[in-house]
Amino acid sequence: MALLPILCYPDPKLHTVAKPVSAVNARIQTLIADMLQTMYEAKGIGLAATQVDVHQCLIVIDLSEERDTPLVLINPQLIWNSPETHLNEEGCLSVPGIYDGVERFDAVKVSALDAEGRSRIIEAESLLAVCIQHEMDHLLGKVFVEYLSPLKRNRIKKKMLKAQREERA
Ligand code: NI
Repeated sequence: MALLPILCYPDPKLHTVAKPVSAVNARIQTLIADMLQTMYEAKGIGLAATQVDVHQCLIVIDLSEERDTPLVLINPQLIWNSPETHLNEEGCLSVPGIYDGVERFDAVKVSALDAEGRSRIIEAESLLAVCIQHEMDHLLGKVFVEYLSPLKRNRIKKKMLKAQREERA
């Protein structure tokens, strides 16, 4: 297993649209293991392949306290969403230190392949539903700050670029 570098906003590579995974093979399984290790190390609850600069439709999530219940979604497709939405405070490993409100569906139903390539349907509500929607956005090249006002987004962009300059210095 290996830790993978996480792309940081406003890296333009975060806006790449991911391609479907064509086969759940050994290469994908290594990527899953590496992404899980990377997410756990970064203390995140979700990570999309886009964030580690791999532009394939693959997401890992773990909402458990013990960090021992990984959920792997390959080629996820939204098949249903609740009519209700609500505002949730979100953060992202690609936008460290920034938290803000995003409107999301309360519940979603998603079809996906699991880590063994089996087709399954996931019914999610509350935090899991929010997390799945956030990670699926990454696969479309969308970062949560893009839901915020241009003013807020520019402020975040400047803050991120400054932090990245200071880190390199
Ligand atoms: Ni994110």
